[in-house]
Amino acid sequence: MKKINKVIVPVAGLGTRMLPATKAIPKEMLPVLNKPIIQYIVEEAIYAGFKEIILVTHSSKSSIENHFDKSFELEATLEKRVKRGTLKEIQALSKLNVSMQSIRQGEAKGLGHAILCAKQLIGKEPFAVILPDMLISKDKGNAGDSLKEMRLNFEKEEISSVLLGKAKKADISKYGIAQIKKNSKLPGLGLIERMIEKPSIKRAPSNLYAVGRYIFNNDFFKYLSKVKPDKTNEIQLTDAIEHYIKDEKKVSAFALEGNIFDCGDNADYILANIEFAMRDSIMKSKIKNHLKIN
Ligand code: G1P
Repeated sequence: MKKINKVIVPVAGLGTRMLPATKAIPKEMLPVLNKPIIQYIVEEAIYAGFKEIILVTHSSKSSIENHFDKSFELEATLEKRVKRGTLKEIQALSKLNVSMQSIRQGEAKGLGHAILCAKQLIGKEPFAVILPDMLISKDKGNAGDSLKEMRLNFEKEEISSVLLGKAKKADISKYGIAQIKKNSKLPGLGLIERMIEKPSIKRAPSNLYAVGRYIFNNDFFKYLSKVKPDKTNEIQLTDAIEHYIKDEKKVSAFALEGNIFDCGDNADYILANIEFAMRDSIMKSKIKNHLKIN
């Protein structure tokens, strides 16, 4: 059995789709309901059983690390004001059952490059990747079991894997699209035969897209480091997956359970807030009343 403990979370992107909101605030720190997006992501990693989080970050994003650090001043103020519930919540954030390290991505050279930046911290171990824009919502507002299932399967089979959702036709050209070979004997959907980054609808082999949860054997780095930058000068993760598969390495496909929101997109970000708010009975009735009045 091969243990997997480490997960890379690339957070260096500048969030240009969400400007001006993200001019001085990292997009990962925007709140969905009452928590910043990155907190949901870290909770998902912990729930899935990972022990070490590696943030690939940027100089303008120190508030992400600060969010999970102890804040003496804030805690003292809450204590003085006898805000016990809030104090407990704030204290819990710096006592999570996971270790956190960060490394900088000096240049904006794409997702594949961001993952390569974490190579030294991963060492010889397998690793997962979570893309923090993509917020999964299952029952009770948590991310559900998708990533946990991938981790448990990896520890048994030692096969890399990608989590796939179903894209609407209009969204196909925004994502990495997979072609799979269905196999009912394997856990998940089967093996991935091909992956194409952001194809036109015509060239897309299916509507199954990578939703931003991956697990890789350590030998994947070898393929990632050989990927040439594309025409936008980015090193694409999808290209490395395609080379990996072509070299007869197995990659399993898992099916996303629950809803997913691309929080780097304004409309999806608003929908995520509505979905999470509707799980709270008081907020639900307030939203319903508001919509009735307007
Ligand atoms: C990245 C990946 C893409 C994946 C997507 C999920 O694209 O390259 O394959 O489907 O994340 O959000 P980006 O959103 O960085 O353009």
